[in-house]
Amino acid sequence: MRMVDLIEKKRDGGSLSKKEIRFIIEGYVQGDIPDYQMAAWAMAVIFRGMSLEETSELTLAMAQSGDQLDLSSLGGRFVDKHSTGGVGDKTTLLLGPMVAACGVPVAKMSGRGLGHTGGTIDKLSSVPGFRVELTQEEFLAQVKKIGLSIIAQTGNLVPADKKLYALRDVTATVSSIPLIASSVMSKKIAAGAQGIVLDVKYGSGAFMKTVEEARMLATTMVEIGKALGRQTIAVLSNMNQPLGRAVGNSLEILEVADALQGKGPQDLVEVSLELGAWMLVAGEVVSNVVSGKERLRQSLASGAAWDKFLAFLTAQGGDAQAVADRRLRVAPWNLPILAESTGYVQAFDAHKIGILAMALGAGRVTKDSPIDLGAGVVLVKKAREWVVAGEPLLQLYASNQEMLAEGRKFAQNLAVVGSEAPELLPLIEEVIL
Ligand code: URA
Repeated sequence: MRMVDLIEKKRDGGSLSKKEIRFIIEGYVQGDIPDYQMAAWAMAVIFRGMSLEETSELTLAMAQSGDQLDLSSLGGRFVDKHSTGGVGDKTTLLLGPMVAACGVPVAKMSGRGLGHTGGTIDKLSSVPGFRVELTQEEFLAQVKKIGLSIIAQTGNLVPADKKLYALRDVTATVSSIPLIASSVMSKKIAAGAQGIVLDVKYGSGAFMKTVEEARMLATTMVEIGKALGRQTIAVLSNMNQPLGRAVGNSLEILEVADALQGKGPQDLVEVSLELGAWMLVAGEVVSNVVSGKERLRQSLASGAAWDKFLAFLTAQGGDAQAVADRRLRVAPWNLPILAESTGYVQAFDAHKIGILAMALGAGRVTKDSPIDLGAGVVLVKKAREWVVAGEPLLQLYASNQEMLAEGRKFAQNLAVVGSEAPELLPLIEEVIL
């Protein structure tokens, strides 16, 4: 078999067989297929697409390209969750303790932020002492003991995705539904999930800008899950403005602490309850999403979810007391951005807020660039809220004056204020089973 023939076949709209897909993935991981051929193939996929059979086989070949976690020692059904990425998206940190407190173990591998989107592992790194890397034995032992562990992706899990994603990132081949779907699903399958709950975001701050695109991606992932025998549930959620008010790592941990103590921003809580309830359904501890939400609300009201969060931080070496006492480092230079007129905030573009947070130092420009865990933005007002001229709309946090000045440039004219309250799209658009 020759890679050049397979590129040509896809370029001309043909379907690749299982054997051919295995040849591509194995050859690429082993270094037999060079980047330039893989990039040409990925571009052919961008234009020609892949059938469901091809996409499922690609997912499986990628999932099997490295180590796979065996979670059978945890007993019961193991459910995982994945978000396609957003701004201020801290749902994992809120729903993880709630779901674990309701008896479904959460053993989760999460990512770091890239570009304008944040990552759970960066947020957790803002807790002093917190270890994002555990051995597989430590990870499983912690899940057995307290029902919750969140770690960075370990060494050799889905090397095909690591290599292919980095290549796609620099060859304009990210935005293909079969390539995104196989990238996401291969990681969940290699991490041992029997049930998978996907938060597929759409809107300005998301990868998929329209509901239609998000629906297509979600349907593809649910179908792959079915084809590979994993129950998969996709929730389409709105990312036109950030979730909650805090964007930036330590700022977001403090917001999660508030939410777990019943003082959460309503939108963050609503999305977390929806996703968490589906995790309880997939984990077979409740029969429907209404009872799931009720159980999760009880875990908040009783303090069980907050206790679980503190136990989780402590188990991974983090200073839970510092979180409880709100002693996390927040960048010392801050500046309010004031409203120039009185009225209703019309919109806060999530993508632009993500870029602003990056300018303040909270995000990475490249995979390895440094990050300021204390920097970020707080949305003092959100869309549909009333603001009086001269009141703060945003509060910026940076570690030095230069970055604050840089952020200020991005922050000007970010919010439009008008006399009518805008209609907001629903937070949860649809659930695809
Ligand atoms: N997230 C992923 O994990 N992979 C993609 O290809 C895009 C978003």
